[in-house]
Amino acid sequence: MESATVTASRRYPLEREIRVGLCGCGVIGEGVVTTLLRHADIIGERVGAPVRLVAVADKDPARLDIVRAQDPNIALLDDAFEITKRDDVDIVVELIGGIEVADRLVRAALDAKKHVVTANKALLAERGAALFALAKANGCDLYFEAAVAGAIPVIRVIRESLAGDRIRSVRGIINGTSNYILSRMANEGAAFANALKAAQEAGFAEADPTLDVTGGDAGHKLALIAALAFGARVLPSEIPTEGIEEVDPRDIQYARKFGYAIRPLAVAEHLEDDVLDLRVHPALVPLTDSLAHVDGALNAVAIQGEMVGPSFLSGLGAGASPTATSVAGDIIDIARNSLAGGPVRTWHLPSERDQKIQPIADLSSRYYLRFSVRDQSGVLAALSGKLGDSGISIDQLVQDHEGGDAGTASIALLTHHAREGDVRDSLRAIESTHFTTAPTQLIRIVE
Ligand SMILES: NC(=O)c1ccc[n+]([C@@H]2O[C@H](COP(=O)([O-])OP(=O)(O)OC[C@H]3O[C@@H](n4cnc5c(N)ncnc54)[C@H](OP(=O)(O)O)[C@@H]3O)[C@@H](O)[C@H]2O)c1
Repeated sequence: MESATVTASRRYPLEREIRVGLCGCGVIGEGVVTTLLRHADIIGERVGAPVRLVAVADKDPARLDIVRAQDPNIALLDDAFEITKRDDVDIVVELIGGIEVADRLVRAALDAKKHVVTANKALLAERGAALFALAKANGCDLYFEAAVAGAIPVIRVIRESLAGDRIRSVRGIINGTSNYILSRMANEGAAFANALKAAQEAGFAEADPTLDVTGGDAGHKLALIAALAFGARVLPSEIPTEGIEEVDPRDIQYARKFGYAIRPLAVAEHLEDDVLDLRVHPALVPLTDSLAHVDGALNAVAIQGEMVGPSFLSGLGAGASPTATSVAGDIIDIARNSLAGGPVRTWHLPSERDQKIQPIADLSSRYYLRFSVRDQSGVLAALSGKLGDSGISIDQLVQDHEGGDAGTASIALLTHHAREGDVRDSLRAIESTHFTTAPTQLIRIVE
């Protein structure tokens, strides 16, 4: 008995325990339950006190049965708001998702002076400034490592490790569903719809994948990255965003011929005069770039700092175990600080809303263009003439006489640097002629 007491006091030198209440026991919530129970010993050792899951709430009784089977001592509730009212909860974990109810839930937790951990990028991208201010006012921490790129510690790296540097750019593949779909299209020549179906069957895409494939999810994450990296308060609706739905297997094949892969990219760059270049879109990435080799559901983030130079982080950006590990890391961080009597370390979003974002028409980039044209003489000369009239010069070009339909051809080309507004004007002029047979594909090159 005596030696057991000695062992216990050596493992947990602090007197208190940290008590966690979990709201939402879906994909990630269940992963958090498993992580906290399975790794209770190492988490306790690392914190210096036990970290105990005391209550779990979910609307679905079947989800609660899964928790009961793992530990009958955990209180099970059907109302997430009950968690915020419990005196025996120090940290509330919000994993219900969505914006409106999650907003009220996080506010209720903070008003009750509970620290909060969330993985909810949509909530923070839209309402983060007010929630961080509320956390600070209440002396609580609001942590969100799992909200961006799942298991990859992007938030900590930007917020802590690189806090002394001036960040120039962040480029990332931060939506695993889109990357899985484009990888599948590249590796198997699958059409978008078939690759999406395969992603859903493999559990990499939701039944409703809209937010992923339209770039909306990456836009939420990029808004948070821009805030962390540049202190910019940007709403997702202000970020030029394009999804991957229009990428055709032919684009992937042409890109490869030119020495590029197509990846779903999110780009945040600090330009001169405090203007930010923020955008989410599929992009041609040189095969020599590490981002071109981030395959399947993997995520990656490339950060360029003034002093640190390039850094590259890669790993699983979603899924129960990787995301739950990030959530557990936040719980541990808050627990350690709280037990050490440390001050609130919550981060705050700037309140000013005067951030200048470069209009996409002003972007200077190289472009991949694929034209569907009539297969007749003079078309190529006319097309390059029209581009030349707008000051757009061609770097490389491939002509393919099997354009799909009889009498049509495909012309794929890479331009030199040009202003996007000029390229779009030129495409409108080209499409008003008789020699195009379908809208032109435009994909930006990021290098
Ligand atoms: N899935 C991922 O890979 C991933 C990765 C990173 C971040 N995230 C983020 O993590 C959060 C959770 O995602 P998830 O995939 O775990 O979602 P999920 O599987 O849909 O789980 C959410 C759970 O919360 C329950 N719930 C919803 N509202 C509730 C309420 N008012 N009270 C009690 N329970 C409620 C849901 O029940 P019903 O189903 O009955 O509504 C569901 O069981 C989201 O913010 C998401 O963006 C997810």
